[in-house]
Amino acid sequence: MNNELANEIRSKVDIVDIVGERIPLVARGKNFFGVCPFHDDSNPSLCVSREKQIYTCFSCHATGNVFTFLMNYEHMDFRETLRYLGEKVGVDVSGIHIAKKNTKFTPFYEAYEFSLKYFQNNLQSKIGKDARSYLANRKIDEDVIKEFEIGLSLDSNDDLTKLLTSKKYELSTLNQIGLSSDDRDVYIDRIMFPLYDLTGKVVGFSGRIYRDNGLNKYLNTKETPIFKKGQLLYHYHVAREECRKAKSVIVMEGFMDVIRASTIGVRNTVALMGTALTHEQLQLIKRLSLNVILCLDGDDPGVHATLSIGDMLLEEGIEPKVLPLPNPDDPDTFILNQGKDKFLGLLENAVTFNDFKLRKLKESVDFRSDEQTAQYINQVLQETTKVKDAIRVEIILKKLAKEFDLSYNTLEMRFRELEKPKEKERPVVVTYTKKKKKTKYEKAMEQILYFMLNNDWVISQFEKERFIFPNEESRLLASEIVYYYTTYGHINIPDFYTYVQDKEEVVNFLNDILASNYAESTSKDELFEYFGVIREYSRTQEIKRLTNSLKKEVDPIIQAEIAEKIRKLRIGDNKNGWRN
Ligand code: UTP
Ligand code: MN
Repeated sequence: MNNELANEIRSKVDIVDIVGERIPLVARGKNFFGVCPFHDDSNPSLCVSREKQIYTCFSCHATGNVFTFLMNYEHMDFRETLRYLGEKVGVDVSGIHIAKKNTKFTPFYEAYEFSLKYFQNNLQSKIGKDARSYLANRKIDEDVIKEFEIGLSLDSNDDLTKLLTSKKYELSTLNQIGLSSDDRDVYIDRIMFPLYDLTGKVVGFSGRIYRDNGLNKYLNTKETPIFKKGQLLYHYHVAREECRKAKSVIVMEGFMDVIRASTIGVRNTVALMGTALTHEQLQLIKRLSLNVILCLDGDDPGVHATLSIGDMLLEEGIEPKVLPLPNPDDPDTFILNQGKDKFLGLLENAVTFNDFKLRKLKESVDFRSDEQTAQYINQVLQETTKVKDAIRVEIILKKLAKEFDLSYNTLEMRFRELEKPKEKERPVVVTYTKKKKKTKYEKAMEQILYFMLNNDWVISQFEKERFIFPNEESRLLASEIVYYYTTYGHINIPDFYTYVQDKEEVVNFLNDILASNYAESTSKDELFEYFGVIREYSRTQEIKRLTNSLKKEVDPIIQAEIAEKIRKLRIGDNKNGWRN
């Protein structure tokens, strides 16, 4: 692998941009923080350093440079990251050859790619006339049809199945991936909306009826090896970039809503596609932005979904906002009927989830009944325990006191009572596995290694020493650092990363060190204090070794020599040359 090319590319990209394009980052001091995508979390434990060009998770200890980030996050291999970043920053990467990865799924994707083109052609042909006028009626114009790759399946039993089998596809494959059923087409005379995976590959379709034929409105691809509905969100591949720009993600119910919003320039959207939100989808939403805006349908099921998704987000530590639509609008019809500005106005004034919930709660209470009123007040207090902002809590309690003519103190007391058990319920989860405790020698060695990674001169000092290492991993890392330094004349952490990335033990240990809180730079005096610790260790180890060989030695002359060495070591003579 071409390290120089890798280093050139690395020096031209900023890891903060690359990570920031994928997960929301907040600047704090010199560093940037975000929610780590490599373990299940909602705390900003991932630290990205512009200065060092590395990232570190304080919780799961994931660490690395821009290449390792992309490799882990995008599941790219190293060459792919080089190509991707090289193209981005204008470094010639034409020399990097990436063999097209063929997996057992490749033919599936190809069949979908083919079907997509086929459906698109149908829609544009003479046969597509009715479907086109249906779309025109719904104000879905040519641009949108193109952008969302909308197509049409034919009113035929097996047109597509025949086409695909005449290519190279087995019927069994077509059945497996949901394009055929037995020897017939699955989709008959429907407007075809492609469904994409997280990277934007077509992996399924949703077919909508466009004539009044009494059939189910939408027919979706069944679960297949490449289409797992619960792990996808419609529009995710586009939303990724858009949410970063908009600093928020809008969650909608149907892909028609997303398509409509796109026509008014709102593209930081994803759709759930008619399923209850899964845990995986929740994680995907969090990856897009922590500012979540729920914009579901205005009907009862939509309100229900809003309440349950909002609660799920709250449990993850995220309080979403809600854009409530009038019943029975959905974003599609609302935008269509009320226009862009009205919708943007609502978006601007999205309410907090808590407000939304209380509002809904209130609608169902008969305030003539004392019992129902009391129950309502208790529920409000219960919900308020989920609000993290103390000022908002006080505002809510004050309003409530005023509204029902109760004393603030009574309400607050009750609130504190309700608050208590919650804290017990929430144990602090320590996500990383506990490592065995490090000895003081190991710690000193790690500190020295960290100095070496950050200061060339420390390496030169280090080379003069002849240490015995407190463990094998530090010996390995030290020798890699020294080798790198002597080869390139200079060391920096991100490029060193590229160099060691195939050496798993080294990378693991390096990550460990980077995730610990070691000082970066040092004075000579301080450095020699750490050296002193390792010298002491080396000396005692050497004495141990010599004592052992002394016991085994039978030649009295050699015995005397060894004894003399031990004596010198004991009195601290022979400072650096103890291993003669
Ligand atoms: P909706 O019924 O809200 O769809 O269902 P919609 O977006 O308003 O569609 P139009 O405007 O009638 O064309 C929301 C989502 O639920 C799924 C679809 O994924 C849809 O986008 N759904 C709905 C189905 O899978 N099957 C159905 O029969 C209906
Ligand atoms: Mn609709």
